[in-house]
Amino acid sequence: MNKITIAIDGYSSTGKSTLAKQLAAALGYVYVDTGAMYRGITYFAMQHDWVSESHLNKSELITHLQNISLHFKFNSALGFAEMYVNGENVEKAIRTIEVSRLVSKVAEVSEVRAKLVEQQQQMGKEKGIVMDGRDIGTVVFPDAELKLFMTASAKTRAQRRFDELLEKGQRVTFEEVLQNVEERDYIDTHREDSPLVKADDAIEIDNSVMTKQEQFELVMKMVNEKLAGS
Ligand code: DC
Repeated sequence: MNKITIAIDGYSSTGKSTLAKQLAAALGYVYVDTGAMYRGITYFAMQHDWVSESHLNKSELITHLQNISLHFKFNSALGFAEMYVNGENVEKAIRTIEVSRLVSKVAEVSEVRAKLVEQQQQMGKEKGIVMDGRDIGTVVFPDAELKLFMTASAKTRAQRRFDELLEKGQRVTFEEVLQNVEERDYIDTHREDSPLVKADDAIEIDNSVMTKQEQFELVMKMVNEKLAGS
């Protein structure tokens, strides 16, 4: 059976990765979380003090970009691939609120985007891939057979993120999380290079009042139609 490319874009905490993981598991496709790659670079930059709330040392970051190697390694116990930066497993470290606060700043740097887009295109060369992010349907795979654009209200998304962080034992307030979601929305949609926009041919899914299962079934129908037509 032919394989297709599935591009999932949308605002933060719209459940892109949950849907992408479900689809990849059902189809036997590779799942790539591109947000983890931007987070990986941000984590590395934080460790070297190239980025903080008050500054971004763009030239140091750009100079050392070639020395930052990112790769995913599948963890069969968890059922998904974990992010490694220069050989270090950073899967937990990149999910903190501190990284979430700084990642949009790093993701604005064109040189960072160029490096990651190239790596993402390499990963998707053989198709059979589900990739989620902000620019997958517009920049990384403009020819993807199925493009989805996910939305939900900022409050719904902040509540989901807040519940997740609490579950992981992180001490945050709902207001902090909501503020982070709104700030990232603003930066992601207003940056000069590859802002978050819906591709003309993407299908918009507002999942504010949809269960994960309903959403999965809806999208699987779309996938099967594409596969039947390919
Ligand atoms: O999907 P996420 O919340 O883990 O993404 C983290 C940040 O990375 C997000 O605020 C914007 C940025 N990002 C991006 O600019 N382009 C992508 N393809 C994926 C993420």
